[in-house]
Amino acid sequence: MRTHNNNQLRFTDIGKTVTLAGWVAKVRNLGGLFFLDLRDRYGITQITCKPNNPNYQAMSALKNEFVIQVVGMVVERESKNPNLDTGDIEVEAKELTVFSEANQTPMIIADKTDALEDLRMKYRYLDLRRPIMQNNLFIRHKITKAVRSYFDELDFIEVETPVFGKSSPEGARDYLVPSRVHPGKFYALPQSPQMYKQLLMVSGFERYYQIVKCFRDEDLRADRQMEFTQIDVEMSFVDEEDIYQMMEGMMKQVFKDVMDIDICTPFPRLTFDESMNRYGTDKPDLRFGLELVDLTSLAMKMEFSVFHDAIKQGGIIKCINVKNAAHQYSRKDIEKLTEEIKKFKAKGLAWFKYDGVECSGSIAKYITNDMLGAWKSALNLEADDLVLIIADKKNVVHASLAYLRNLFGKQMNLIDENQYHLSWIVNWPSFEFDEETNRYVAAHHPFTSPKEEDKERILTNPELCYSKCYDIVLNGYELGSGSIRIHDQKTQANMFRAIGLTEEEIKEKFGFFVDALKYGTPPHGGIALGLDRLAMILTHSSSIRDVIAFPKSANAIDPMSEAPSLIDEKQLKELKIKVEK
Ligand code: AMO
Repeated sequence: MRTHNNNQLRFTDIGKTVTLAGWVAKVRNLGGLFFLDLRDRYGITQITCKPNNPNYQAMSALKNEFVIQVVGMVVERESKNPNLDTGDIEVEAKELTVFSEANQTPMIIADKTDALEDLRMKYRYLDLRRPIMQNNLFIRHKITKAVRSYFDELDFIEVETPVFGKSSPEGARDYLVPSRVHPGKFYALPQSPQMYKQLLMVSGFERYYQIVKCFRDEDLRADRQMEFTQIDVEMSFVDEEDIYQMMEGMMKQVFKDVMDIDICTPFPRLTFDESMNRYGTDKPDLRFGLELVDLTSLAMKMEFSVFHDAIKQGGIIKCINVKNAAHQYSRKDIEKLTEEIKKFKAKGLAWFKYDGVECSGSIAKYITNDMLGAWKSALNLEADDLVLIIADKKNVVHASLAYLRNLFGKQMNLIDENQYHLSWIVNWPSFEFDEETNRYVAAHHPFTSPKEEDKERILTNPELCYSKCYDIVLNGYELGSGSIRIHDQKTQANMFRAIGLTEEEIKEKFGFFVDALKYGTPPHGGIALGLDRLAMILTHSSSIRDVIAFPKSANAIDPMSEAPSLIDEKQLKELKIKVEK
């Protein structure tokens, strides 16, 4: 239906008769001369029509978003547009076909839009006409293409795993699907293909990958959707180093193919403990410094009871020192921050400013002249510094300061938005203590191998166990996570016991999996990367919703189809389900 796309015609095409098709993006009627921008996925070409043209009447009746075909002659433009690839030429229309008319759209089809996200999602098919959204999906496609060609070259095979299955152990709530054939029984949608990919190693495939949908019923955020996509990988006869190398190679190819950027490998590594101590988080944005400083010993010398109490209750005291910030932040601004960190359960924010001579601020009076020297050297204090201190339980201090660090990183322009910083976080604890259920839970998942030297203390000292788990972090986002798995039955059994599972529970939840380990299991390990997160970062989007064609809103609905919806009484009856009102 067309000889060229709308981003193809150049100066050298002048004189040719061409056929173009697309959407009417903009119409202008300038004193008898009619212009329109014709848009397709490739770009824009300007079409003109003079009053003596037999099509003039029909052309000037065109409205935005009509879909048309134009046959015409390529001519040189009088006033060229250097911002447009086709800006040297225009096409003088000779014939016009209107394929379909369009109602006035509820939002403007352009990169810049003031439409609210709800409206964009309700009319997602129009939102996806915007070039910026199309570009996001093109980039996402390029990523998956690079991933597939990388793994294909290296003997990996892509294997599909079931969507209807049993609950998988990733720690979120499952989405359940009732079985009509077996009333009262439910399938669980996979939170990840974890057990299946391990079973494929037991089967002997050695190198597996899959670009796969996963489903988790958890609170949605800018980087979390209820259904999302993983680049899922598993390999046999490997240790951590093999996985690091393989994934660094994959990221290198993705950045080269998609962005034409050469990234440096190997990626820097930080242990989990180091990451928490220096940045307060297991996913530090390493594009900037602003590290946390431990103030416990200095603060204990002050006559400030809040600090002493925090330590007595087993807490810690840490701070960040924000350079050149003192003059920019008023007492009121800092009070606002105190409110914000309440969401991390922080009880307060102590602070002071230093002007090169003396301190001012909430705890300034406790920093006596004879203490100042020690503070200066501990914090590298200089004029215009703003120091923010939190004394509380360790996890509260870390979560609050990590939040403030990111906030000041952005507000003080410490971040180079064009930089991509990749790192590995390694040496994770095997277990986390879950205060709600008062027991240890697997920090990653229960198939993660402990470090060799810690295998013997899984049951005796779980809090001291470290695992062969690793995360890959990109610009402050957890991009991926994985581990070397347990391949012997005894360790696997101990692991299940350590997280408080009874024999019956093990059998009921993982029976088939534990059985499989009995028939010859190779040492194996793997990782899964969030494809949506990777696409979000590479497109500089602020939410993964912008790189998913049809996402759910923050409150887990699809404003376009209005899913989830009520279902017929008849369907419920078939499923033998009664809904409580
Ligand atoms: P994990 O649960 O850490 O590991 O998930 C791996 C990666 O998947 C992405 N991700 C998400 N992306 C969007 N929305 C979500 N709700 C969401 N949840 C997770 C993140 C995360 O780093 N089976 C293991 C991997 C393994 O051990 O091989 C797993 O799923 O980018």
